[in-house]
Amino acid sequence: MPQEYKLILKHADEPGYTPDIECYLRHGGYDALKKALALQPKDLPDGRKLSGPEQIRQGVMASGLRGRGGAGFSCGLKWSFVDRKSGKPIYLICNADESEPGTFKDRQIIHKDPHQLLEGMIISCFANDVHLAYIYIRGEFVEGAKILDRAIEEAKAKNILGKNILGIGYDLEIYIHRGAGAYICGEETGLIESLEGKRPYPRIKPPYFPAVLGLWMCPTIVNNVETLCNVKHIVAMGGTEFAKLGTPNNTGTRIVSLSGHVKKPGYYEIEVGKATIGQLIFDANFGGGLRPGRSLKAVIPGGSSAKVFKAGEKFKLKRRGPDGKETLPEVDMLDLPYDFDSLIQAGSMSGSSAIIVMDDSTDIVEALANIAEFYAHESCGQCTPCREGSLWMSKALHRLTHGEGRAQDADYLVKIADNIPGGRTICAFGEACAWPVQSFVAKFRDEFVAKGAADEERQAKEGKL
Ligand SMILES: Cc1cc2nc3c(=O)[nH]c(=O)nc-3n(C[C@H](O)[C@H](O)[C@H](O)COP(=O)(O)O)c2cc1C
Ligand code: SF4
Repeated sequence: MPQEYKLILKHADEPGYTPDIECYLRHGGYDALKKALALQPKDLPDGRKLSGPEQIRQGVMASGLRGRGGAGFSCGLKWSFVDRKSGKPIYLICNADESEPGTFKDRQIIHKDPHQLLEGMIISCFANDVHLAYIYIRGEFVEGAKILDRAIEEAKAKNILGKNILGIGYDLEIYIHRGAGAYICGEETGLIESLEGKRPYPRIKPPYFPAVLGLWMCPTIVNNVETLCNVKHIVAMGGTEFAKLGTPNNTGTRIVSLSGHVKKPGYYEIEVGKATIGQLIFDANFGGGLRPGRSLKAVIPGGSSAKVFKAGEKFKLKRRGPDGKETLPEVDMLDLPYDFDSLIQAGSMSGSSAIIVMDDSTDIVEALANIAEFYAHESCGQCTPCREGSLWMSKALHRLTHGEGRAQDADYLVKIADNIPGGRTICAFGEACAWPVQSFVAKFRDEFVAKGAADEERQAKEGKL
């Protein structure tokens, strides 16, 4: 039976563990930073020297670390895109917006182990020649912002942050920036606009890839809270050792937010790919199963934007055997390993690693209406397909859930959803608002049609049509 593997949350939930710096130091805190700052230039066989920061970047690349914010992009690769020749300052931003519905992992780190985040950030900044960094924290996380503020002051008092860190001549300031509570501020370019004091209108890519044209049009690294914490562990254990955690191409651990109709909702840290969706829902170590007398209806595997899975769905998964040969076994949805690649192969994504479980008591039309209302509210409005489409979908679903639906609403919803993503919008919100509608209607079409048809019949009888 798979177990939790606590790397990031190793101490967070231990009795007596507190977020203050003394407790962190007693648990080996900032040792990885000391190790990083003490790295000496390494001779390469071709006569070149690899500086300490370059060695850290190489370690992060070797670790295979993929971003924990949503897209699962290689952290090492992202750092390699940073324009180091422009002569402009390089900035680092920690994305602590955590706005994807169903996700509640970053706040655990911030509340319980803020110095771990700071240590990961300081090492990442040192590795990338950054002297000014920001933590962009969602406005609602009032307590989290206070805890981080305190942690920054504590680190400064110990010369772990600020000028001439630990006497090695490296300067770094970290500022907290509180958002005002908008989902789109989690999107990295919207976040950057917001940090610059403007409306969080996402920027078009190209040309505005943050690694080249980010904050104040300077090269900028945007990484998620959990991603940055991992950097500390990569330095502590070495990139190759880190890569042994998890599964190939899906290395390290992930903190999974599990919510909905399970007995034990909560956050669980696992080695990536070492537990299946079914194990996360049903095992006593994790969700502990559904409520008594209930059966599974659907699972959203990666936050509300991810395409829904229907109970009993089967997928063909590419697998490479020990002989190197590729096979395509059929796998039940519950047997999908919870990793980046398997979920993509199954047509969805692990996104922000938030699993939302729905049992047979769920009204699937109501569930989608709820999600669609959120997206309609949160669209920034720059792109017509997203601004209008998200609203039309939400309005249609509102009708369907308020006795005013039509049998053809299912087709109408899909038609709108199909016309939003696919390069028609500036940012991936277009996909995020269309995917739930496309997948819910495709997989539970009967329920949408039946609801609409019943409404139509009743309205006809009442003479309202
Ligand atoms: C609409 C939208 C909302 C997002 N919200 C978040 C968020 O709340 N937190 C986060 O870390 N990333 C979020 N992202 C992803 C970020 O744009 C960015 O890819 C991420 O912060 C990069 O960090 P990572 O590489 O460490 O994952 C969002 C993306 C989109 C399109
Ligand atoms: S896709 Fe939506 S959220 Fe993204 S920029 Fe366009 S209107 Fe704004």
